[in-house]
Amino acid sequence: MEQLPDNIDSPPAILGGPSIRPEGPPAWPLRDPAIEAVLQDLIRTGDWGRYHGSHCQQLAEALAAYHGIEHVELCASGTAAIELALRGLHVSPGSEVILAGYDFKGNFVDVLTMGAVPVLVDIRPDDWQVDVSRIEAAINGSTQAVLVSHLHGGIVDMPRLRELADHHGLPIIEDACQMPGATVHGRRAGLWGDAAVLSFGGSKLLSAGRGGAVLTSRADIAQRIRLYTQRGNAAYPLSEMQAAILVPQLEQLDERNAQRAENAASLIDRLVDVAGLTPLVSTGSDNAPGYYKLGLQYDPDAFASLSRDRFAEAMRAEGIALDPGFRALHAIHSRRRFRAADPLAEASRADDSVLTLHHPVLLGDDGDIRQIVTAIERIRQHAAAIVAAT
Ligand SMILES: Cc1ncc(COP(=O)(O)O)c(C=O)c1O
Repeated sequence: MEQLPDNIDSPPAILGGPSIRPEGPPAWPLRDPAIEAVLQDLIRTGDWGRYHGSHCQQLAEALAAYHGIEHVELCASGTAAIELALRGLHVSPGSEVILAGYDFKGNFVDVLTMGAVPVLVDIRPDDWQVDVSRIEAAINGSTQAVLVSHLHGGIVDMPRLRELADHHGLPIIEDACQMPGATVHGRRAGLWGDAAVLSFGGSKLLSAGRGGAVLTSRADIAQRIRLYTQRGNAAYPLSEMQAAILVPQLEQLDERNAQRAENAASLIDRLVDVAGLTPLVSTGSDNAPGYYKLGLQYDPDAFASLSRDRFAEAMRAEGIALDPGFRALHAIHSRRRFRAADPLAEASRADDSVLTLHHPVLLGDDGDIRQIVTAIERIRQHAAAIVAAT
């Protein structure tokens, strides 16, 4: 095999040098014999085209057993699942739902869809998960729910949040779209919330192109969701075909999560010596995060003032799937649409300094991880030239 051009002195790909991964980032979804077998079976039986069959039920039962939870409502996307969870909790127009100022935009819009007001609280400076210590001050007589997401390999302090929510009689929606199968303070992700949400979107760890699910142990929530979605016809359906290809992925999830975690740990270890990029690390022996994205805090001062977005572009030119994180919710919505419970200083900082590494490379080997660090150092070496060329 040709020697990889991973000498940090050669010009970066963004300035015309040879790319460190000329083949680009690893593809997702993976080519998987288990999925090919399912697809062939769907063709043979004609199940791919049916309204009803055994696959949705099989997936719902497998998810229920995997999580040890009573009710699983399958649906069309993670975004739809958040909306359904809010409906299941009976969030009413004019009420308030608390969420982090740095979160998935769809979660914010789902709250608006209910006619409710998103109330934004800041995130923690160390791991950029919602700062649970700020939530109490945001609660008032209109608060009807708290919606939190585990983001970019970080883990929300769920025991503390559960205690606070119970104290105030508030339900929690736990968004586990980015880490299905993770362990969150000793429980499987999703089991701290009154309702939890999964996504089966095309880039996700469990992929069906589209799809989602609400998990809950509360019969009243499941019942309200079914009343809303079942209209003589399913209004937010996951198809039989989607369900069928998710079943083998769920069976492989723990093994793949372990492999991703091992590679993430090796990258995090190497980044200790890398100036300007600090990984979001979840500490605690009772946590085993999942890695849909591995979040990094970017400091342009360590890269000759190269902007975060240009750095991400330069990494992508090297074949590394690194992207800017979410926009902070208060930065992209009119003030009329939300209430800011505090100044959201950390969410503003996250808005222009989060980078996320996409997960497929975390199923690679040590060489793949080494290439990420080589690409970073090559870009640092040439950062001033990249700035000058911008
Ligand atoms: C934290 C979080 N919540 C919800 C979603 C929505 O999932 P979907 O794309 O299936 O609508 C995403 C998607 O990336 C997400 O990252």
